[in-house]
Amino acid sequence: MPEAKFIKNSVHFEEAALERMEAVILSEIRIRELKLEDYETIITLWQSTPGLGVNEADSKENIGIFLSRNNGLSFVAEIGNELVGTILCGHDGRRGFIYHLAVHDKYRRRGIGQKLVEGCLAKLQEAAITKCHLFVFADNSQGMDFWDHIGFHKREDIHIYSKNI
Ligand SMILES: CC(C)(COP(=O)(O)OP(=O)(O)OC[C@H]1O[C@@H](n2cnc3c(N)ncnc32)[C@H](O)[C@@H]1OP(=O)(O)O)[C@@H](O)C(=O)NCCC(=O)NCCS
Repeated sequence: MPEAKFIKNSVHFEEAALERMEAVILSEIRIRELKLEDYETIITLWQSTPGLGVNEADSKENIGIFLSRNNGLSFVAEIGNELVGTILCGHDGRRGFIYHLAVHDKYRRRGIGQKLVEGCLAKLQEAAITKCHLFVFADNSQGMDFWDHIGFHKREDIHIYSKNI
């Protein structure tokens, strides 16, 4: 049936075109160090990303302090001129900590989140840090699924205690 064949061919065409677009997007992803000059863009991404908690530790001044204490450990992902992902990472000389991993929702499931994490872990290893922790809100099941999927495990033996000081 010619009409059915036409539809089948155009489906194939669209799949091939999508695959080519994906390949172009992937080849254009650039991971670079996060700089304080990115602040206005990253705070907008964080504030609009469900699953992330933004608080006084995320003021420009405090992010500046965090970056200078943890030089070269935090990254952004860019596609062209668009900043599409972030990760903050630091360590205290003993353990590494990851915060604010976020990928713009239109670019998810293309390996960007994992690339950002791998960049941080490589830097922690260079600093002889052998374990990295992170915090996930208990209602962020997608976030937890991601961390599980890339080889992190949820601790059942520890609770976090916090105090405002
Ligand atoms: C979590 C997040 C950063 C993942 O980013 P991403 O770029 O989509 O992730 P990736 O494409 O690098 O995924 C890497 C792997 O994890 C898998 N994965 C990604 N999200 C997943 C999810 N929600 N559930 C299960 N697996 C997931 C991918 O399929 C991929 O697996 P594969 O290599 O076997 O195909 C992104 O969904 C996000 O920004 N979420 C909102 C913010 C958030 O929750 N951050 C974490 C807070 S601690």
